[in-house]
Amino acid sequence: MNKLNPLENIDDWDDDILKRYPEKTTDKTKKEFRDYQNSNRAKTVREFYKLNHQYQSFEFVSKKEDRFLKFNERKMSIWDAVEFLNTLVDDSDPDIELDQLQHLLQTSEAIRSDGHPDWFVLTGFLHDVGKVLCLFGEPQWAVVGDTFPVGCSFSKSIVHSEYFSLNPDSSNPNYNTKYGIYKENCGLDNVKMSWGHDEYLYQIVKDYLPQESLYMIRYHSFYSQHKENAYNHLLNELDIKMFEWVKKFNKYDLYSKAPIPPDSKALRPYYEDLVSKYLPNTLNF
Ligand SMILES: [Fe+2]
Ligand SMILES: [Fe+2]
Repeated sequence: MNKLNPLENIDDWDDDILKRYPEKTTDKTKKEFRDYQNSNRAKTVREFYKLNHQYQSFEFVSKKEDRFLKFNERKMSIWDAVEFLNTLVDDSDPDIELDQLQHLLQTSEAIRSDGHPDWFVLTGFLHDVGKVLCLFGEPQWAVVGDTFPVGCSFSKSIVHSEYFSLNPDSSNPNYNTKYGIYKENCGLDNVKMSWGHDEYLYQIVKDYLPQESLYMIRYHSFYSQHKENAYNHLLNELDIKMFEWVKKFNKYDLYSKAPIPPDSKALRPYYEDLVSKYLPNTLNF
């Protein structure tokens, strides 16, 4: 196991979420979850969260924002970015893992087949493109994983919250209270979230997509809120309304995984049109 990047595949994190939040909880899924908790994969996921919770402090996030929100890594079209992202899984087992493009297409195709508006379909297709951060040399725990507010106390509802005792913010009196540096119901736009692929992509596309879509992109890994309502005290009315969309989106992100890969060649013309309807030819990453 690589100490800095404990997951064999960055999607092991998503698989862990699926175990935490199965589509329907049955005795079988409960048993599967218990078995999973004893597995080697569960150990690497634990190690991953330990690093994430230890290092995602207010200062750490500020530094990442300073670096990546200048967008001087690369100029790419969305297609370049998706192809670039796909190099991530080259060395994983092709029998069991879907590549990144396939996950994006399964999500977006499930949205499309439910008859949702085209910007919702596009959101499904784009939502994980921010994972290109991994290819800029960022460690897994600074790209994927549940996201959460920094600058106030960490909720017990966050997975493996015990590891927050290792985070310097936990002993910083400015940050370790319920509200920390924030005001009651100040709105999430005023709240700094832990750094990862969600915030990064949001910042790249924020001028081009409807508000609902931007919420889905920005908060899709904020499980302690959209599954547990742990930060209601920071949300404003707009956030509450928009989180209905985040929840709607989450269903497709988590539960559209099927073993049959979508036909990416056949689907490409549709998605080319859709991308060019909303986004410029190239974007700054
Ligand atoms: Fe994601
Ligand atoms: Fe996803």
